[in-house]
Amino acid sequence: MRADAKNLILIGMMGTGKSTVGAILAEELGYELVDLDQVIVRKEGRSISDIFENDGEGYFRTVETESLRETVQTGGQVIATGGGAVLAEVNRELMKENGIVAALSATAEDIISRVNGDNNRPLLAGNAEERVRRILEERKDAYSFAHCTVDTTNLTAAQVCQYIL
Ligand code: S3P
Repeated sequence: MRADAKNLILIGMMGTGKSTVGAILAEELGYELVDLDQVIVRKEGRSISDIFENDGEGYFRTVETESLRETVQTGGQVIATGGGAVLAEVNRELMKENGIVAALSATAEDIISRVNGDNNRPLLAGNAEERVRRILEERKDAYSFAHCTVDTTNLTAAQVCQYIL
């Protein structure tokens, strides 16, 4: 790990490929890959769905901010954030101050096909298609603070990485 280097922070809606792209980028850069949702799961000792179900989204967001604050203290990491990590101003500031922020975007159709059948995304429980469309609309400007944005439509994960690099 190159602790003196900046972090590369990936943001974007659920299902835009942050984890897949993050793994390739980490390999290419010789950085450590940190998945912020996994940091939260380890910290809490339970799944994301369990946290939402038993303590609600507000509690999850508090732990998400704590986890982000702790994670960005170390440099030389590719950090794949959860799709809603951009919602809090404090998180956006932490990201901008501690790394290069790259956003991944995708069409509603691509996102729906990628998240289909995944039951570890509590915000999509029920009618995933309708929820993806609604959340995309609610968050349409939330990812625009990134230093760069890659529209992943028709691109392979490797091509997305080349754009970011
Ligand atoms: C969320 C996205 C999820 C996870 C949680 C909330 C969101 O991460 O953090 O379910 O609000 O968009 P992924 O983007 O990795 O699915």
